[in-house]
Amino acid sequence: MTGGGGFIGSHLVAELVRRGETVRIADNFSTGRRENVPADGSVTIFEGDIADQAFIAQAVAGCDYVLHQAAIPSVPRSVAEPVATNHANVDGTLAVLVAARDAGVRRVVFAGSSSVYGNSAVLPKREDMRPAPMTPYALQKLVGEQYCQMFTQLYGLETVTTRYFNVFGPRQQPGSPYSGVISLFIDALASGRQPLVHGDGRQTRDFTYVGEVVRGVLAAATTPALGGEVFNLAVGGRISLLELIATIQRLLGTNLEPVFGPAREGDVRDSQADIVKAREKLGFEPQASFEDGLRETVKWYQADVLGAGKAG
Ligand code: UD1
Repeated sequence: MTGGGGFIGSHLVAELVRRGETVRIADNFSTGRRENVPADGSVTIFEGDIADQAFIAQAVAGCDYVLHQAAIPSVPRSVAEPVATNHANVDGTLAVLVAARDAGVRRVVFAGSSSVYGNSAVLPKREDMRPAPMTPYALQKLVGEQYCQMFTQLYGLETVTTRYFNVFGPRQQPGSPYSGVISLFIDALASGRQPLVHGDGRQTRDFTYVGEVVRGVLAAATTPALGGEVFNLAVGGRISLLELIATIQRLLGTNLEPVFGPAREGDVRDSQADIVKAREKLGFEPQASFEDGLRETVKWYQADVLGAGKAG
């Protein structure tokens, strides 16, 4: 797995270890963390740049499956740093695909993104809609999935893309201005600060608990006959930032007014997945309610982020 030290990757590693699988992780720990990786004899870490062909070839050699989760996963960061994010997200993906092809890997599952849909007027967003990337990140993820499909056609390498929709959960770090909005809002509210809303707060997202994504990705890895396919992995709902803030406040017992700033450049207004294809072909069914997922995330934040702060 690439990116096994990251937020989503580390949840996948934990589930694979639970299932008794042997896992190799390729990660440069730029946004991921070593402490996210379970200390278990079945897990080996390869530390390096996935875009370095010799490095990734060594990491992938002998693997049956590659879950390609490594990325610099931020829309605003890609707007600020198009070249660096292109290196990680496009050069990295191409190098992983070449390594997987050469190693005779059975399947690559690529972490795609809902951002590829852009501001297309139709909701919910279906996999067969025409992509309309509005930011470097969205374009990089689109190139990644198209490379996957091309490798399936040209070289017979099985690839599947899972498009994520605003995933949240434990271990998503609030430490950077580029962090996911849920981690930033929990961090602000739990620390007695007002959350900063970019725009009017009425933009909506299909916020997806990380546990759903883990089940979906593993189904995408193991379900037969999916070469070159693309799947939305999400709940199929739509929650505004104002509703998000109200729910977090309820869970924390806080009552702080948000601060409103200008809308973010390249921000998508509404995002909601059609998950019929994942349901039908992967047997994917969301399980946790949004509030249950948030409750788990808040609990983790209080124990691991606030708790660690107090201990240190
Ligand atoms: C995008 C993608 C998602 C991808 C993710 C990677 C879309 C629809 N979604 O998420 O598929 O996995 O990037 O990181 O393109 N916001 C605030 N205050 C803050 C931070 C953010 O109001 O402090 C707002 C943003 O302007 C945005 C929303 O919250 O409207 C979500 O932002 P963020 O968590 O950064 O994710 P997206 O850009 O939606």
